[in-house]
Amino acid sequence: MPEVDYQAVLNEITTEVKPLLTTGKVADYIPALAEIDADQFSIAIHTTSGETYCAGDCTARFTIQSVSKVMTLTLALQRYGDELWQRVGKEPSGTAFNSLTQLEFEQGIPRNPFINAGAIVTCDALYSRLSAPIHSMLESFRQLSGNSSVVIDKKVANSEYEFRHRNAAMGHLMKSFGNFNNEVDDVLWAYFNFCAIELNCIELAKAYNFLANQGIANSSGDRVLSARQNKQLNSLLFTSGLYDAAGDFGYRVGMPGKSGVSGTVLAVLPNKFTVAVWAPGLNSFGNSVAGIAALERLSQKLDISIF
Ligand code: DON
Repeated sequence: MPEVDYQAVLNEITTEVKPLLTTGKVADYIPALAEIDADQFSIAIHTTSGETYCAGDCTARFTIQSVSKVMTLTLALQRYGDELWQRVGKEPSGTAFNSLTQLEFEQGIPRNPFINAGAIVTCDALYSRLSAPIHSMLESFRQLSGNSSVVIDKKVANSEYEFRHRNAAMGHLMKSFGNFNNEVDDVLWAYFNFCAIELNCIELAKAYNFLANQGIANSSGDRVLSARQNKQLNSLLFTSGLYDAAGDFGYRVGMPGKSGVSGTVLAVLPNKFTVAVWAPGLNSFGNSVAGIAALERLSQKLDISIF
């Protein structure tokens, strides 16, 4: 028996955040995401000893959007190590996830790998080292989540590609500064496919469990990142995973985290568990209103934090 009744805590949180579900606004800049009903919620914990707890619509699948950027960075760090940091920074941006202005002032080097420009340049790096990047990314999620039939929501990927102008502008701006090696549209297609990978909360918490487990996937025992890289990645998640709301998230939740515009948020409690939450209504920073509230409650109820 675990010391804490995680299931009871998740059930309680699910009831408590229900009134918040309809206070946020679903992302509408990607037409395929605008159709999603905001009144949905799920939360799952996957512990480093392999137990899973879930409450809400546990089977509901959603595209993981920017939460995929963590796997993009992971695969790029596996291939480049510290060399990657010549092309992307490690500092919080203090600007929106899709901001363009800083990128020009800073000569095409994005502030961090989690804002769109940073994730796109990381995809460009990965694109140069993988013969089939979309397949490799999908396989990583299949293996780590334990579900060999994970798929990409092609309707979402196509919708993002069709309305790619802002992300394309970032790619072209980086190319004009010499910080982009492949065709912008090719890299964007891979990037949008990564964002459109579909998982449920249980699979998401499980796939990223290596972040809580010193870089080792607890399901297979395989090392995904070195312990040092894992520490570095978690540190970057803490400072930049929620963009210009990273400070507020850190203050309220006390754990490294990553959000996505589908209303997904992942948080990591080192050596204990990963937790994934999904609630599509967003705040003005593009982060899930009820998702963050749920993680704040989890942190208070379990009295947990990395500090
Ligand atoms: O490129 C985009 O804008 C989306 N595919 C991902 C952005 C995102 O998830 C921002 N997170 N809150």
